[in-house]
Amino acid sequence: MSDTTRTGAPSVFLVGFMGSGKSAVGKILGLELGCGFEDTDARVEEIEGRPIEQIFRESGEGHFRETEWRVLRSLVSHERRVVATGGGLFLGVVQRRFMKASGFVVWLDAPLEVIRERIGRGEGRPLWSSDDRVQLRAFFEKRRASYALAHVRVDARSGAPAEVAARVLARLESLSH
Ligand code: S3P
Repeated sequence: MSDTTRTGAPSVFLVGFMGSGKSAVGKILGLELGCGFEDTDARVEEIEGRPIEQIFRESGEGHFRETEWRVLRSLVSHERRVVATGGGLFLGVVQRRFMKASGFVVWLDAPLEVIRERIGRGEGRPLWSSDDRVQLRAFFEKRRASYALAHVRVDARSGAPAEVAARVLARLESLSH
């Protein structure tokens, strides 16, 4: 067993814009690495007992951000894990520092055109505004500057989630040698 598959090896945090494939890729990566998989959005919904869109509507983004930060802290353990994070979680300085100190942070980078095709009108994603293209582009570019602070960037523009997971795995392997 190589270093990248050992439990006890560093956890892997997947970051990136909405629709970049973090959850789908993360699930496969967890299986490939033989470790647990967690999804911060799913955990937040579980704790709150309501969908993200409803949390934003009823309690506001601030409340959502506090809950997802609490979830992130609870997911770090000495056991290796793959964690798919909500698209806004890596933007906070404290959260970013925490992830980078707790494991490998992998940015799944896909262009906005690809993301637009994947998520369409963005149902269930309160921060996605498909109507205002200029605003969405500015929002996207601003966020890319933060995602670029991840340890590694993996191209997620094409390929099925299994192919993207294989690319991530290859990067992890190369880093562990
Ligand atoms: C958000 C992304 C969403 C979810 C929430 C906020 C963001 O997760 O956490 O709607 O700020 O980019 P995905 O990146 O999984 O869509």
